Parts: sequence; structure tokens; C-alpha cells
Amino acid sequence: MARKNNLCDFILFGGHGDLAFRKLMPALFHLSKDGYLEDESRIITISRRSISNQEHKTLVKERLIEFLPKDSFTEKDYEIFSKKLLLITVDFSTNEGYEKLQEVLNEFEDRERINYLSTSPAFFGGICQALSKWDLITEKTRVVLEKPLGRDLKSSQEINKKVLSFFKEDQIYRIDHYLGKDTVQNIMALRFSNRLFVHLWSSNHIDHVQITVAENVGAEGRWDYYNDYGAMRDMIQNHLMQLLCLIAMEPPCSLDANDIRDEKVKILKTLRPITTTALANSTVRAQYTAGSSIGESVPGYLDGEVTQSNTETFAAMRVDIDNWRWNGVPFYIRSGKRMQKRNSEIVIQFKPMPHSIFEKSNGASIVDNKLVIKLQPEESIELRLMNKIPGLSENMKLQEVNLELNAPQTQKRKSDAYERLILDVIRANATLFMRLDEVEAAWKWADPIIEGWENNLVPMKKYTAGTDGPTAAVQMIAQDGRSWNDE
Ligand code: BG6
Repeated sequence: MARKNNLCDFILFGGHGDLAFRKLMPALFHLSKDGYLEDESRIITISRRSISNQEHKTLVKERLIEFLPKDSFTEKDYEIFSKKLLLITVDFSTNEGYEKLQEVLNEFEDRERINYLSTSPAFFGGICQALSKWDLITEKTRVVLEKPLGRDLKSSQEINKKVLSFFKEDQIYRIDHYLGKDTVQNIMALRFSNRLFVHLWSSNHIDHVQITVAENVGAEGRWDYYNDYGAMRDMIQNHLMQLLCLIAMEPPCSLDANDIRDEKVKILKTLRPITTTALANSTVRAQYTAGSSIGESVPGYLDGEVTQSNTETFAAMRVDIDNWRWNGVPFYIRSGKRMQKRNSEIVIQFKPMPHSIFEKSNGASIVDNKLVIKLQPEESIELRLMNKIPGLSENMKLQEVNLELNAPQTQKRKSDAYERLILDVIRANATLFMRLDEVEAAWKWADPIIEGWENNLVPMKKYTAGTDGPTAAVQMIAQDGRSWNDE
């Protein structure tokens, strides 16, 4: 049982939304069950719906049963959890309902308060303003902002400016749930605690890096949101950029949140801008057409709720980092919906051996080493090395083998990224959250690409649902004499 030290009021705005039911409530349930939330803590759902507390509890219970792993839900744990649940109805357009929130929060004025904004970013400013107006922001109050933080640099700056007029930067937690994944955090451990990689980790030995986040699902009932954002804004500008930063950053001078964020932001600032003329060669955007996903036929992106759209469901690009370490080492990144399988991985492809003594004597070829960091569906780290095939054959034969670097599973259950992140906000540890300048630097890099795409400087390609994406993405990397790590 974990140490109980996290007494707080957790106020969940947008608490009846998809993310809240799918991810946040299950994460809070697990934290409660594992003893990370003190019993007196309260989870206050803020919703537009005017239902009774009892109806709210029943709804939460139903959705927990739907979204929790089968063996996680027990009546006994729910009984304890449900005592923390409370519903307050607030209408964000009229601000009706904040008096009630004030009354409830003032019962424990000295408590840590976490305001989790899981609403459209259009409401972020208004909610923060209302919290200030009703005097609900104390020194112990924090605010968590769910992505997307804007649609471009300008709108992101507007949102941040508004929030910053009520909260100090160190009270703001901008969430990117990829940073809460264990293997993503492990990238730092791998890079900065193993001498083996210290000298290998640069253009001297690395040929290129690939980052893939492929999903087999489609827009999944979030059409309005997705069609407005697309793969570039929904995944590349945030999740993939964060992964790229962790692979590319210099060692931070400590594990302090700001030291780590200083190094990440340096990478974002050294990304080579993709110019209008480079767009067509270095980027690919595409939409899926009807096909099949895990054995079932699925409609195309334009066969559903939208029939005309310039929104990409797949994006791929070559990214270059203009600094000493990465000079001449391209990062190829891609992300798409309705791909063949759910597969997220980072591949560090090492350069060929300077000379092969094997090929000359018996024709055995050497496969270049790679380090494959798998994030999904399973988490693993594999170093692909060459090895002798055992036996008495006259010629030495080689094979590629995997050296698996997986830590023995000590936890009973693999915790979800949101559990770690929620707990970090409660503990006021901002290491895994994005600082303002990181978000802005990522938009600054992404904006010209998005603008070029919106002006149709790059044609929208098609790919059949259930495949590895458009052939244009294969051609993009092939023009540099390389190929994706698709097995
Ligand atoms: C979210 C995106 O941030 O990440 C979704 O908005 C996407 O479109 C999801 O499906 C993917 O997260 P994960 O953890 O399942 O890879």
C-alpha cells in the first residue's frame, strides 16, 4: 500500500466528457485504490449536466466498469472511491454554479486544489477568470491544461496569456500524456545512466532516427474536434515533438523540472524550419479510404460524418536538427489513424560497420545495429545486434538477434500515463509537463507546415484503412536511401 500523503480537492472541469470517463476517472480510481489519494480527498466533477449526486455516482460507476481493466473494479474499492465523488453543475456561458463551488471549496480553504481543465481550450480563459472572480485561487491551487493548446502559435499565445493573468507559470501544468508513459521516461534513464550510449549518441554513430505513432482506431466519435485539428496538430506538434526532444536533448544539469525543460526547448529551437520549397519533398499528408481494421471493414474518413475535408489523418516528415550533435542525422517522424496496427516506436538506426570481414570470406551480410524503443502496444527496449549462428558449418554464419533491455515486472499492474501525471500534479512536480516556451517553440516550427498544407502546397494523398499509410511516405524516406522499420 502506498504512503497516504496526498490530501487534495481535485476539481475536474469537463468531468462528463470522453477523456474524463475513459482516462481520468479510471486513473483517479486506481490512485484511490492503491492508497495514493487520502480518503478525505474530494473529486469534484464540474459539468453542465444538472443531475443529482447519486445519479452522477451511478454514471461514474457504469463508466468505470466499462473502461477499467476487467480485474481492477471491485465493489469494495468503489465504495471507498465513491465517497470522494461530488458533482457541481456549472454553466460556462453564464457562470452559473460557481457560488456552489466556492461554498464547497471554502469548507477546506487550506487544501491543495487541482483544477483539471478537460474542456475545449475555448473555455480555459473563462474558467480561470471565474476561479479568480470567486476567489478560488490560493497559493496551493494548480491548474492542469489538457491539449490541444491552441491551433497555432497565435491562438496558443492567446490562451496562455489569459491563463497567465490568473495563475503563475509554476502553478500551470500543461499536460502531454506521452510524457507519463513509463518507457518514455525510461528514455532518459537509458541515455543518461548508461556509459555505453554516451559516445554512440551522435552523428558519429547514428545514421538516422525514426519515430512512429500508428493507431488502428479512427476519429472515434470525436469528429468535430479531429476534423478541426488533424494529425499534425493532434499528434505531431505535441506527442511526437516531445519524443523527439527526449531522444535529441543534451544531458540536463539535473533532474529538476526546469533543467530538463531548458534542454528540450533548445532542441525545439534548433529544428530546421521546413521552407515552402522543401515542403513537398520533406512532408506527406494523407487521408484514409475505406478498408479493414483488425478484420472488420471500416469506412473511409470521408464516408462518415464529413464528406469533404482538407484534414489529414496521416502525417509524415523529415525533421533536421541544426546543432553539433545531430548534424546530418535526419529524424523521420510519422503518425496516422486507421493504420495496420497500433504501433508506437522509436528506432535509433546506427551507421554501418566501417568494414566487414565476413562478407568477403563467405558472403554473410551484416545488418546495421539498431535500438528499438517500443511504446505501444507493448513497452520494450531492444538492441538489435549481430551474432554467430551456433553450429559446425564451415563458413561462419551470422544472424541478427535482439538484446532485450526490459526491466523485470515488479508492479502487479502497469500504471497508466494519467495516473503518474495526476499524481505528479498533486505532488507539485512539474518535470513531465510542458513549459510555455516549449509549447510556443513547437508551434513556431509547426505553423509554416500547417499553413503550407492549408494552402495545398502538398497534395493530400490517400491510403487504405488498415495499411502502413500512403506510398508517398515510403517514397519520402526512400529518396534518402532509407526505409521505415515496418516488419
Ligand atoms: C491523444 C489524441 O492526445 O492521443 C488522440 O488526441 C490519440 O487522437 C491519443 O488517439 C493517442 O494516445 P495513446 O496513449 O493511446 O497513444
